[in-house]
Amino acid sequence: MNFHVLTLFPEMIENGMATSITGRAIEKGAISIEAINIRNFAFNKHQSVDDYPYGGGAGMLMQAEPVYLAWEAAVAGIRERRSHTATGEVHSGAGEIIGEMSPGIVIKEKNQVIAGEMPPCTIYLTPQGKTFSQEQAREFAQSEDLILLCGHYEGIDERVLEEIVTDYVSIGDYVLTGGELAAMVVMDAVSRMVPGVLGNDESAGTESFSAGLLEYPQYSRPQVWHGREVPEVLMSGHHANVDAWRREQSIIRTVQRRPDLLKTADLSNKEWNFVRQLKKQIKEEKNE
Ligand code: ADE
Repeated sequence: MNFHVLTLFPEMIENGMATSITGRAIEKGAISIEAINIRNFAFNKHQSVDDYPYGGGAGMLMQAEPVYLAWEAAVAGIRERRSHTATGEVHSGAGEIIGEMSPGIVIKEKNQVIAGEMPPCTIYLTPQGKTFSQEQAREFAQSEDLILLCGHYEGIDERVLEEIVTDYVSIGDYVLTGGELAAMVVMDAVSRMVPGVLGNDESAGTESFSAGLLEYPQYSRPQVWHGREVPEVLMSGHHANVDAWRREQSIIRTVQRRPDLLKTADLSNKEWNFVRQLKKQIKEEKNE
């Protein structure tokens, strides 16, 4: 998985992603992160990338051209890399069709529009986007390359968005000062889905959202802390009972904290009855 981030603050992206699990994934080569500074594509001597909005109004807008040129540079880099990693003969140097990548992607010289090739997935981080979810992270993780566009000021000239953006993504109903933190949230969640990023101890499958249920509570040593005991069943060594207890706790937790998630949960009839019973109990407690 190769992330290409178009940003005015490349050091924020580089530093933010260089630690912990994503940092290790970069070192191992499971993911790569390229932060492209949009300011390097400013076409005036002051290297400014913003201007006043037509029609007036507060704030400044990021201009179309530097954003477009930065995006073109990212796309050119992707094509260049793909042309080297494709199977078979690919480079002729003359611009004619020079090879076929598996499966069936036709390659010409870099920077040329390639008929039939899908444009790389280009995500614009904006509070106006679709709310990011685990399901979307899973979909994005299928791509070999993701371009993430971070806005600043009051937004970006609409015309360049129309030309390059494939997905509008929000990380929640609040407004950040820029798209960088949102881009890092998306990259972090997507990276976890990439094979080789999580170690054996950090499985991506059995945790919150994987089955429409929140994760069960977990405990480690000591057995008693601040007078609170670890639930007895977890000390029993009886795996079937532990699994049943955890499943029950997941259901209780989801009903209490995120009942909206139950819409997508895959439960047995017996478990649905349990959900109804829990909901009734919660309602009665509220009315007391
Ligand atoms: N940029 C500013 N606010 C944002 C949000 N909530 N999600 C994604 N990008 C943003």
